[in-house]
Amino acid sequence: MKLAVMGDIHGNHVALETCIRHALEKEADEFLFLGDYISDCPYPQKTMQIIYEMKRNYRCYFIRGNREDYMINHRNKPQERWTYSSSSGSLLYTYENLSEKDIDFYESIDIRGLYRKEGYSDFRYCHGSLTSSNELLLPDNPNMESIMENLDVDLLISGHTHIQESKMYGSKKLIHPGSIGIPWYYNGKSQYMILHSTDCNYFGWEEEFIQLGYDVCRVKKEFEDSGLLQKAPFWAKSVIHTLETGEDYTTPCLRLAMNLCKEEESVVNWPDIPEKYWKIAYKHYIK
Ligand SMILES: [Fe+2]
Repeated sequence: MKLAVMGDIHGNHVALETCIRHALEKEADEFLFLGDYISDCPYPQKTMQIIYEMKRNYRCYFIRGNREDYMINHRNKPQERWTYSSSSGSLLYTYENLSEKDIDFYESIDIRGLYRKEGYSDFRYCHGSLTSSNELLLPDNPNMESIMENLDVDLLISGHTHIQESKMYGSKKLIHPGSIGIPWYYNGKSQYMILHSTDCNYFGWEEEFIQLGYDVCRVKKEFEDSGLLQKAPFWAKSVIHTLETGEDYTTPCLRLAMNLCKEEESVVNWPDIPEKYWKIAYKHYIK
């Protein structure tokens, strides 16, 4: 059994196509998608089209990520404070380019799953953690040890970190397959994983980490053509920087812009952060 595990696509349909083609060449039997299908990159509808095609043609498992939760929440109770701006313009743009069908699809899937198939070892999977789509399962998470200790299987696979790695916690293993669409490190190469079933280890599965170059220039051009670069100026530029280098400054830029706003105006409420603070933050980290 070869299971292609794909996480954090973030609307990067060009990288997604590249990874799917590669997985099919490697004769993947099944596909596991770990959520965050959309937001950050342009034309989310193109990514969703690929997702539906995969669902029709292959054995796929889907869970949702925090970005899908934001879209569901927005439909249920529109966030009037989302505006075209570096803080929330990318989310607003994404929402406006999705259909009711897309959001219905997000609502139909869970934030976690259990892989159980006769003849294979069980494992659990999630976008963030098993209890929250937004939790990062990284060593500095104070709940990390207890999460792994309380795990009722030996293997957990999670996305959201954008870091491709595996780590042991006692006798349990945690694997992050990396991000397809906003990959960190490896000079921005797109990342996914093939999980091979095996009798040679205790977990019953062996991970193969894959990094692939793809047409970043095509995605960059879509940022301009789609208007996303104008609708979420410094956020979009920060995302492009990550795509081109694998260095991520989106969160540091947001944090600095918020701190600057707090210092100057003694109050800060996301997403109401004036562009002038974003500009300083962007220049501080990127250029
Ligand atoms: Fe995420």
